Amino acid sequence: MALIERHRRETVVLVGVAIPPVSVEDAEASLEELAALADTAGADEAERVLQRRHEPDAATFVGKGKAEELRDLSNEVDADTVIFDDELSPAQSRNLEKILGRTAIDRTALILDIFAQHAHTQEGKAQVELAQLRYRLPRLRGKGLALSQQAGRIGTRGPGETQLEVDRRRLVRRVTKLQSDLKVLTKNRRTQRKARARSQLSTVTIVGYTNAGKSTLLNRLTDAGVLVEDRLFATVDPTTRRLDLPGGERVLLTDTVGFVRKLPHQLVQAFRSTLDEVAEADLLVHVVDASAAGPRAQMDAVRAVLREIGADDVPELIVFNKADVADPDGAKRLVQAYPGSVLLSAATGAGVDRLLAVVGDRLRELTHVVELVVPYDRGDVVAAVHRSGEVVSESHDPEATRMWARIRPEDLARFREFVA
Ligand code: GTP
Repeated sequence: MALIERHRRETVVLVGVAIPPVSVEDAEASLEELAALADTAGADEAERVLQRRHEPDAATFVGKGKAEELRDLSNEVDADTVIFDDELSPAQSRNLEKILGRTAIDRTALILDIFAQHAHTQEGKAQVELAQLRYRLPRLRGKGLALSQQAGRIGTRGPGETQLEVDRRRLVRRVTKLQSDLKVLTKNRRTQRKARARSQLSTVTIVGYTNAGKSTLLNRLTDAGVLVEDRLFATVDPTTRRLDLPGGERVLLTDTVGFVRKLPHQLVQAFRSTLDEVAEADLLVHVVDASAAGPRAQMDAVRAVLREIGADDVPELIVFNKADVADPDGAKRLVQAYPGSVLLSAATGAGVDRLLAVVGDRLRELTHVVELVVPYDRGDVVAAVHRSGEVVSESHDPEATRMWARIRPEDLARFREFVA
């Protein structure tokens, strides 16, 4: 019975509320995204309700009368769960569940659930579990039994699921344990990052809205790359690969967690160490699903997260993916609207060679070609220039080595006194 229950898609009612300054159009767009999120989490939307209010109701968010209407509607369509598009306070979700007679979850719980389904690495799982516990702890009062009965439903899945059946004190201990585990993993990550910095390879990080095709692109690119050597970092971080571009540059390519609108702060906090890598990249490849209903809204959502994590000043290359299934005219308009962007299909590989060439061009643009004159007694500097950048030409004057080299802005300071 329980098994059948877990594999059955859930029926859900989605509820959005437009409260000024949020316009009805914005609330509709957000609700549309909530529907896509619910679908990703494995639910079928039975009804969608949008309400206008001047302010949220302190006890039930939507107001008691509306909550009763929602209960009748949910009974009619036999909904398992009602999903609210805004974060509910612990008291509001308790009150709503009492009136609705079924699980009431909010957007944050839904997003955490999707992340829980997608987390595969030890670090990812720990990060999601920590975020889920931080979200669930204040909501636990009087809910232990109900939640254990509903385990397996949206908002209750994930690594933390079994923990919900034990008491609060054990959950708090679990949070402390996860925090200390993550501290170790963060330290490892820092060590890795230092090793990467020493290796002088440019880092290219793939970002994008959830389901845009980031992982497919990473796999495709590393297949397409001339040389794929992932020995150095693969064991520690399976999503970082070394890749040679057609121009000969070697880069490190990293995949990241998917972004969505209103990314829960608990999640941003828990994923801090992963997200820090995004902010430190040399170039972001922003993957956008060109076949999505609202690609621009998804791009805005990704950019909002980039701003939140301090990565909005990292150069961005926009890649419109899924060209094989996107409407050709719509895709063409998108590419025209974003000069320098690339249209491709990570699934078929069409356009991927062009992306590799463009990544190389963009990285070269980010470096400066400078002329250096290095006295012969500074062989260490000549060696350092070779390690830091691409030496375009080198000749020998009577007193010094004369070099033209492509050097990244952050490395330039070290060689400033030798610039001709
Ligand atoms: P998250 O982990 O949710 O952030 O997803 P992601 O951005 O890593 O996307 P992923 O690579 O997992 O792809 C999502 C879905 O889109 C999968 O079903 C892919 O097969 C599909 N997909 C990816 N690229 C393409 C493409 O170029 N064309 C088509 N038709 N489907 C694609």
